[in-house]
Amino acid sequence: MTIDAMDWDGAYREDGFFDGPPPWNIGEPQPVIADLIRAGALRSDVLDAGCGRGEVSLALAAANCTVLGVELSDTAVAWARRSAVQRGLSNATFEQADITTFAGHDGRFSSVVDCTLFHALPIDKRDAYLKSVHRAAAVGADYYILVFAKGAYPAEMVSKPNEVDAYELHAAVGRYFDIDFIRPTPILAKVDALPGLPDVVLPFERDSLGRLQFPGYLLHARKSGSGIA
Ligand SMILES: C[S@@+](CC[C@H](N)C(=O)[O-])C[C@H]1O[C@@H](n2cnc3c(N)ncnc32)[C@H](O)[C@@H]1O
Repeated sequence: MTIDAMDWDGAYREDGFFDGPPPWNIGEPQPVIADLIRAGALRSDVLDAGCGRGEVSLALAAANCTVLGVELSDTAVAWARRSAVQRGLSNATFEQADITTFAGHDGRFSSVVDCTLFHALPIDKRDAYLKSVHRAAAVGADYYILVFAKGAYPAEMVSKPNEVDAYELHAAVGRYFDIDFIRPTPILAKVDALPGLPDVVLPFERDSLGRLQFPGYLLHARKSGSGIA
C-alpha cells in the first residue's frame, strides 16, 4: 500500500497498520508550529489544513485565534471536537472535508497552517490542494507548511510519505503563493519500528521524550494581491 491509498480514518481507529496510535499524534503541536503560535505569527481566522486530532487548532484557539480545522477522517474530527469542548475552546471548530476540493470559505483566512499534510497527499492532488487553499486565503494571508524532506524514510519503504526536496516544494507552492523562505527543521514522530521494515534503524536523534527527529522543511509564503487560481 502506498501513502496514496492510506486509510486515514483506519489509522485513527488504530486498525493495525501502525503498532498503536498513528506516529504523528505527539499529543501537542510540532515544536516549530508551537513557536509560531507563541510568536503570534498566525492571525485569525486560521485554517488548519489536515488538522488530524486538532492539537494545532486547539493551541491556536487557546492563544485566542479563531480557527477552522479541516480533516478527512471522521474519527479524528470527532476527537478534535470533543477536545475543544473539554478545553472550553468554542473558537476552534472542525469540518470533515477533503481539502483538495474544500470550498465555501473564499477569501476568509488570514493564516493557513499545514502541519504535515502536504506529504500525506498524493502528488497528483497537490495542485488541487494548493488551489483550494489559495481560494480560501485572504489577500496577504500567511501560509506555513511543515513537510518531510526527501530521505526522511528509507527508499525501500513502500508506504512512505510523499517527501519533498526544497526545489520541488518551491516550484509547487510558488505557482500560487509568494515564497518567503524554506528552511530545514525537524519533525517529531513516535516511531519505534517502521511498518513492513521492522529491522531498519532510522539514523536520527531522539528528543528527551524519545520521539524521533525526522528531517523536514518549514515553508512560509504569502498570498499576493494579484490572485491567480
Ligand atoms: C500526518 S497527519 C497530520 C495531522 C495533524 N496536522 C497533526 O499535526 O497531527 C496528516 C493528516 O492529513 C489528513 N488528510 C489526508 N488527506 C487529506 C485530505 N485530502 N483532506 C483533508 N485531510 C487529509 C489525514 O487524515 C491526517 O489527519
